[in-house]
Amino acid sequence: MNIRPMTAADLPAVAELDQLSFSQPWPVGAFEAELANVNSRCWVAEVDAHVVAAIVLWRVLDEAHIATIAVHPDFRQRGIGKALLRASMDAAYIEGARIYHLEVRAGNLAAQKLYADFGYEIVGRRPKYYQDNGEDALLLTLILPEEP
Ligand SMILES: CC(C)(COP(=O)(O)OP(=O)(O)OC[C@H]1O[C@@H](n2cnc3c(N)ncnc32)[C@H](O)[C@@H]1OP(=O)(O)O)[C@@H](O)C(=O)NCCC(=O)NCCS
Repeated sequence: MNIRPMTAADLPAVAELDQLSFSQPWPVGAFEAELANVNSRCWVAEVDAHVVAAIVLWRVLDEAHIATIAVHPDFRQRGIGKALLRASMDAAYIEGARIYHLEVRAGNLAAQKLYADFGYEIVGRRPKYYQDNGEDALLLTLILPEEP
């Protein structure tokens, strides 16, 4: 597995990955806009030169927000999500991020397990946040020390 910054050439594969992974995928063009956003950090993981996972972080000052992460269904539970989150957080840390935020569906236990492994803690809940099924969002935060 290789983890590297996302490029425009990855956009079709990333959009397909997003469609396969979420009941409310990002709109067409959203990932292209992320690549153009100076505050976005977009990464992919590839296996045998095929993109199998993607993550987008938004960086502002000492904070990073995990905007999305998805692993292709055929490649889940092999440690790819963990490796991609680790690599993107390591890069954000080098840029100065110490506070990490994200939202996750209350019923998304796979993602919650991933985040718990990193030490993310539930700090809030947005009731009925997701429009497709009225599911609550959990707000997770991780604060890293200066010298981890
Ligand atoms: C969440 C997601 C990114 C995890 O990616 P992954 O590559 O399968 O995760 P990993 O293999 O690195 O597993 C990380 C940890 O979560 C656990 N885990 C992953 N999927 C799991 C599942 N379906 N059930 C239980 N635990 C699971 C793993 O066992 C592992 O824990 P461990 O190291 O203690 O064994 C992936 O399931 C996915 O793309 N889901 C759809 C999109 C999504 O929900 N994104 C998150 C939005 S907030």
